[in-house]
Parts: sequence; structure tokens; C-alpha cells
Amino acid sequence: MKKVFCVVLISLLAVLLMGCGKKDAGGIDYLVLVNKEHKLPENWEKEITIVKYVDSQGWDVETEEKAYEAYQKLHDALAEEDIHVDLDSAYRSVAEQERIVQDFTEKYGEDYVKQYVAVPGYSEHHTGLALDLYLNIDGQDVYENEDMVQYPEVWAKIHEKLPEYSFILRYLEGKEDVTGYSYEPWHIRYVGDPAIAKEITEKGITLEEYLES
Ligand code: DAL
Ligand code: ZN
Repeated sequence: MKKVFCVVLISLLAVLLMGCGKKDAGGIDYLVLVNKEHKLPENWEKEITIVKYVDSQGWDVETEEKAYEAYQKLHDALAEEDIHVDLDSAYRSVAEQERIVQDFTEKYGEDYVKQYVAVPGYSEHHTGLALDLYLNIDGQDVYENEDMVQYPEVWAKIHEKLPEYSFILRYLEGKEDVTGYSYEPWHIRYVGDPAIAKEITEKGITLEEYLES
């Protein structure tokens, strides 16, 4: 009887330890889908660990910890090829997204906002796993959307490197009907696993299509 009790106790402890281990390794769903139809899951913000960083423009950027670690590796690998990127924006609260909607509506108008900016509560940026990059070209920061799109060959080299660091390009050219957004070369998404990122990239599909398949 005593032996059975010990076995049960040890098994329970093992399960508890495994559970803790998973949480330490980032116990969140790195494939979470947030888009025009799928709102940020409740309690998400309580589950994530955020890392703070100040970029070259002096802007505060907050990112989910594993996504930030992966971004640093991507950043360094690109720098070795003389491609320089920085983080414009990653985690955004609903209030921050509201401010962006207002600013962009004033600057670019409502049609642009529908194509490029999510309704607060429905932005992938609320997950902390979506990162907007900007470029540094010949020592100059390039961060306005209309300026960044002038460098397709630089973006192509950046996009090539993404899967190795568990990132995908989220809003693909030609998939606007699936993602609901126009092509955004700067918006990358951490998916937590390089094999998944590679599969999505090689198939040329969106996260929506990968999750449906
Ligand atoms: N630019 C993306 C769609 C966002 O606002 O979340
Ligand atoms: Zn973005």
C-alpha cells in the first residue's frame, strides 16, 4: 500500500514539474491567430512576459521575451550581411492601437487605415509576437511606410532569413483576401518554431491557411 502511495506521489510530482517546465519555456500558444475575425484571447496579456527595449530613434518597444530573443539573433545575422534593421513597434496595448488608428487616419485617411491598421482589440501586435521592422540604409533610419517600400531588394534578403529564426512574413503580396491587409514587408510574426516557419514560408501560405490545413 505504502509503495503504491509513493508511486502515485512521484507521478504527481513529475506531472507538476513537467507543467512548470513548459511554462518556463514559454507556456503560450505561439501559433495564436489574431486577425480581423479573431480577437486577442482573453487573459493573453497576463500570460506573456514582455521585454523592454529602446530603439535607435529613442522609441520604447516592448516584445514578448522569446520573440525578442529570436529578433536579436535575426538582427545580428542580418548585420553580418550589412543589412541593418531595428524595431519600430512590437507589443501594443488596445489604447496604443487606438492612437495609431487616429494618427494614421489624420495622416493617410480612412481607406489606408482599413488596409494597413487593425481595429483595436484585433491587432496581432497585442500578442507581443508581431514585430514591425525599420531599415537603416547608408546610416540613415528609414521608417515611414512609403519610404520603406522603396527597398524591395533589401526586404527580399531580410525575408529570406526569417524562418531560421522562427519568423514568418505575415501579410503577403497576393494574399490580401486571406489576411485582410495589404502587403507589409516590415511586419513579421514569431511562430515559436523554425520548422513551422520554414513550412509556412516554403508553401507560400499565410498563418490562416497553415492553421486550416
Ligand atoms: N498593421 C497591422 C495590420 C496592425 O495594425 O495590426
Ligand atoms: Zn505590424
